[in-house]
Amino acid sequence: MAIRHILLALVFVGLMVGTPVRGEEVPKPGEAGANGAQAPTFYKNVVGIFQEKCQSCHRPNQIGPFSLLDYQSARPWAKAIKSAVMERKMPPWLANPKYGHFNNDRSLSQAEIDTIAAWVDKGSLAGDAKDAPAPVRWPDGGWTVQPDTVVDLPPYAVKAAGVVEWESVLIPAPFKEDTWVTSVQILPSDPAVVHHMCFEFQKYNPDLPFNVYEWVEIPREDDGAAKVYDGRPHPTEGTILRRAVGSTEVTRFQGKLTIKGSNQFCYLPGLTLEDYRPAKAAVLVPAGSTMAVDVHYTASGKDSVDRTRIGFTITKTPPVKKFINLGGGDGDENPVNSRIQDNMKLAIPPNDGNYAGPPADITFKKDTELVWFRPHAHQRGKSARYTLIYPDGREEIVLDVPRYDFNWQLTYRTSLKIPAGSRMNVQFTYDNSVNNKYNPNPNKWVYYGGQSWEEMGTPNMGFLVDQNTKKEDIIKEQ
Ligand code: HEC
Repeated sequence: MAIRHILLALVFVGLMVGTPVRGEEVPKPGEAGANGAQAPTFYKNVVGIFQEKCQSCHRPNQIGPFSLLDYQSARPWAKAIKSAVMERKMPPWLANPKYGHFNNDRSLSQAEIDTIAAWVDKGSLAGDAKDAPAPVRWPDGGWTVQPDTVVDLPPYAVKAAGVVEWESVLIPAPFKEDTWVTSVQILPSDPAVVHHMCFEFQKYNPDLPFNVYEWVEIPREDDGAAKVYDGRPHPTEGTILRRAVGSTEVTRFQGKLTIKGSNQFCYLPGLTLEDYRPAKAAVLVPAGSTMAVDVHYTASGKDSVDRTRIGFTITKTPPVKKFINLGGGDGDENPVNSRIQDNMKLAIPPNDGNYAGPPADITFKKDTELVWFRPHAHQRGKSARYTLIYPDGREEIVLDVPRYDFNWQLTYRTSLKIPAGSRMNVQFTYDNSVNNKYNPNPNKWVYYGGQSWEEMGTPNMGFLVDQNTKKEDIIKEQ
């Protein structure tokens, strides 16, 4: 990557200092000369940008709707590419560049945007294939990182229409001994029907069967809104439904959910991979663990069968640091975390275009290194902002997402050293007006809930800690 940058930079410098012929204007970086001879080409100027900023999604079997691996696939999209990059719609990246530093920032520099625009304006030329950087060697099978171990989830049939509740299922973890996991990739076969999917490693419980989906009945209005609202995304007791994998026969009983899921590892649109390798960290999975998987499928207008696979890379060397995340999920063993959002207070009035949700206010009890943010809201989500208040009172905006977009659940990776005694304030706003094109109904009150048309405002954060530090050692609710 770095070398490619240097090469691109050299190309630009070359263009800039190249002796101007008879008073010709020196072209700006990425611009072609007046005679068109230096028109940027796909191979020389453009494919390198695509490799670095686009191909992770735009290649066969990924979420991008077309491939940007080669000239033949990219060329028909040239005009759309120019407008998508000029409007900064692509690549998806929602952080305000004024605040924070993110090591997975995939936004384009102005010079890269200019290069792509000039390439399109000057005829989207192929150029000489010899000028192209070596192609990226993406692993087979759609993986972004070649996994050491793969788990196949049971195939899941999704009907074209209707509400699908969150369901949980237990499956055996693939590790027979204590294992350090360094990256996790969840790879749906049909991303269009996956609202999200999360799992957690748990201790094996002989009383709970593998391969049985379990969920709780949620009485809903015709438009899908839950009839009973109690500040939780979904109730944990009531009528419990079960169905064995591969069967359509549902059994019901009154009681409590037995499977507690969580958001230790998640798949969300735009979030395909958890990778701790750059931080030299890992998550310890004790021998004989179970995987508790929460699946939330959503109707896409077409009948579908999804076959999700989960890939892991592992290491034999125990890492210095371990990774933990503080979500706000149900079933979190630390009750502090499930309360930080004050979900009971989230009540968005009809037609309110700028509703400030109940803020999260979290105090850090120990010096801590924050390594990612993943703000999570639904269709009315409008903005999210994380402000760190240091012990001396100084305030710093560490992530600002001015135009939150439900369709992109992005993770912002960073390295932020937080001194003990600091506080993190997290503020979401919501747009329940007609101006929000994703708003299914501006005339309804909206409460906390697990479906896209209900709301959330989860201030997810990830941390690197010493091996023996627990979640509750780090934070407390304000
Ligand atoms: C994180 C995944 C991801 C990355 C990275 C990404 N795209 Fe996309 N792109 C998508 C998806 C998904 C769609 C279809 C949905 C949409 O339009 O939002 C899309 C749509 C597009 C479209 C069609 C837009 C339209 O208006 O129909 C263009 C053009 C495009 N991408 C170009 C690019 C270019 C160029 C890059 C890199 C500079 C890039 N994308 C990076 C996922 C991605």
